[in-house]
Amino acid sequence: MNVLIIGAGGREYSIGLALKRDDKVEKIYFAPGNGATDTLGENLAISDFGALADFVEANGVDLTIVGPEAPLVEGIVDLFEARGLTIFGPSAKAAQLEGSKIFMKNFLARHNVPTAKYIETDSLEDAYTFINTLEAPIVVKADGLCGGKGVIIAQSHDEAKRAAGEMLSGNSFGEAGTSIVVEEFLDGYELSVFAICDGKDYVVLPAAQDHKRLLNNDEGPNTGGMGAYAPTPLVNEMIYQKLNERVIEPTLKGMEAEGMPFTGVLFIGVMVVKGEPIILEYNVRFGDPECEELMPLLKSPASELFYKAATGDLKSATIEFYDKYAVGVVMASKNYPYKSTPPAEIIIDDIYHEELHENAHISYAGVSRGEDGKLYASGGRVLVCVGVGESIKEAQERAYMLVGQVHFAGKQCRTDIAYQAL
Ligand SMILES: Nc1ncnc2c1ncn2[C@@H]1O[C@H](COP(=O)(O)OP(=O)(O)O)[C@@H](O)[C@H]1O
Ligand SMILES: [Mg+2]
Repeated sequence: MNVLIIGAGGREYSIGLALKRDDKVEKIYFAPGNGATDTLGENLAISDFGALADFVEANGVDLTIVGPEAPLVEGIVDLFEARGLTIFGPSAKAAQLEGSKIFMKNFLARHNVPTAKYIETDSLEDAYTFINTLEAPIVVKADGLCGGKGVIIAQSHDEAKRAAGEMLSGNSFGEAGTSIVVEEFLDGYELSVFAICDGKDYVVLPAAQDHKRLLNNDEGPNTGGMGAYAPTPLVNEMIYQKLNERVIEPTLKGMEAEGMPFTGVLFIGVMVVKGEPIILEYNVRFGDPECEELMPLLKSPASELFYKAATGDLKSATIEFYDKYAVGVVMASKNYPYKSTPPAEIIIDDIYHEELHENAHISYAGVSRGEDGKLYASGGRVLVCVGVGESIKEAQERAYMLVGQVHFAGKQCRTDIAYQAL
């Protein structure tokens, strides 16, 4: 099988790695890929969806996997399916679950999926009235895609009103913020749960925990994610069962009933409040960096999981995971997340810890290949060091041993990834 992966991050690299160790996979293409994905396959400098479909037809690509949300919201799946090509991801309509927080919240309400009490509005007056009924902190969210920056947790009523005003006037997020969601603050612990869906059936992956803040102990500014681990012991059978029955099943049934069956990754942002899973949001693709820890835990061939999901045939698949743990530590460039950093050469020591050869690896993200053939840190989040082990502790130790072998000027990382589990 030949596979095309759309995207350029560590997430797409890790999907590529999983496909690489799958005997059924012959060629892997990335569009556009990054400075390291060309060691796993071939990078394509094509971005137009129609031109990508042409390439797929001309080169016998059997399956396309879409990593990021933007092409999904823009309809790449619809275009491929109209041309009879097999692609893993939701249609543009179904991708609204991520593309519009208002669509998502109203969908959850229609199908009785537990979520924070909210209103959606484009009126400042209505926003103020609702804010007055809540206790601080109060959460204000822009409707559209804001690259993870569209949510304000306001510590006071005044701050919430200011945030609502800024968004509605179009000042903070332009079009994406001219309608907003205001909701109650949920106090609990947060999980990332991923279900691979084929429209009707689904496979739930081991629950993960991300670390959004830049610094240890969850301090400092928000980032795209500084590390993650899976499975987290903060989830028990009871929570999985509630997620299946109250969240995933009604969502798949509801999407089908509303004429937009959901195929792809349903990324469920969960807040567990007093043992009850409450839904913060949906995304329609893998989390990054969670994907980098989940792919190494996948025991079944990756091509089977994605192909069967894309063709509505998950029922016939038995998907297994290793009974192990994975911890991933993001190494970021000097000025992340504030501004870009000049490229810095990446040097990786020879791996002298025997145990790292089989149980640790790097997923490359913001890297580019210089004209000198060397690898350079060129993005904000540069790479993820992933350790796998029989325990979280062991996986964490291996991830950090690998971190110790990776050098580039200005590198920064958290030193406490997975602390909530230890
Ligand atoms: N109702 C809420 N209560 C508490 N924290 C929240 C709430 N909504 C969002 N958050 C926090 O804000 C983060 C971002 O919100 P989210 O809805 O996931 O939007 P996005 O990922 O699109 O920025 C969440 O990961 C969570 O930590
Ligand atoms: Mg989120």
